[in-house]
Amino acid sequence: MKLRESGMPEEAYWETLFDVPLILDRLGIDARLENVVELGCGYGTFTIPVARRIAGVLTTFDIDGGMIERTRHRAAAAGARNVLYVVRDVFADGFGGEAGSKDASLLFNILQCEEPLRLLAEGARVVRPGGAVLVIHWRYDPATPRGPNLEIRPRPEQIAGWAEETGLLEAEGPVIDLPPWHYGLRLQRGKSEASA
Ligand SMILES: C[S@@+](CC[C@H](N)C(=O)[O-])C[C@H]1O[C@@H](n2cnc3c(N)ncnc32)[C@H](O)[C@@H]1O
Repeated sequence: MKLRESGMPEEAYWETLFDVPLILDRLGIDARLENVVELGCGYGTFTIPVARRIAGVLTTFDIDGGMIERTRHRAAAAGARNVLYVVRDVFADGFGGEAGSKDASLLFNILQCEEPLRLLAEGARVVRPGGAVLVIHWRYDPATPRGPNLEIRPRPEQIAGWAEETGLLEAEGPVIDLPPWHYGLRLQRGKSEASA
């Protein structure tokens, strides 16, 4: 199922809406991360810069084969070879792969979806203890130039609450300001249930 309000405007416009290096810096996405998964590559706005920073492989998923092809094409042009591409409905079928096998999972601009807790739990499942689910979303502010309807747009404290409800994650540090229009959260997978 394509998640609600997960459509995108035209690529060039979409990419004016983010300061990608600032976002990746503030979320701590760098060579300390090895293997990472991403839900929804879209145009590859984050896929390619993330792949260039991490030490391992970024596996990116999208339900829309056109988005996967666009990202694959851009990544090839940029020389980013450490990306695996999967056309899949992650809501229905999850990320696959072994539990606890990734350093991070990325849920960017997607938690306005029907069952955010389910996606957070799946993001947590694939992350190793001590790893993190990294989230960005549109500020809860009618002045934002895009973003889901405010009725379904999550506030940061809601996301932190859902994360805790998974029983696997807790918010690490304060809400991260990602100007001009976004905020971020690092949701750490607890080390205490390492062998659970
Ligand atoms: C709002 S876009 C965000 C793309 C990217 N994360 C970004 O921030 O630039 C959401 C993406 O998720 C994809 N998507 C929607 N439902 C999905 C699902 N059930 N499984 C996998 N991908 C999905 C859409 O096709 C779209 O490319």
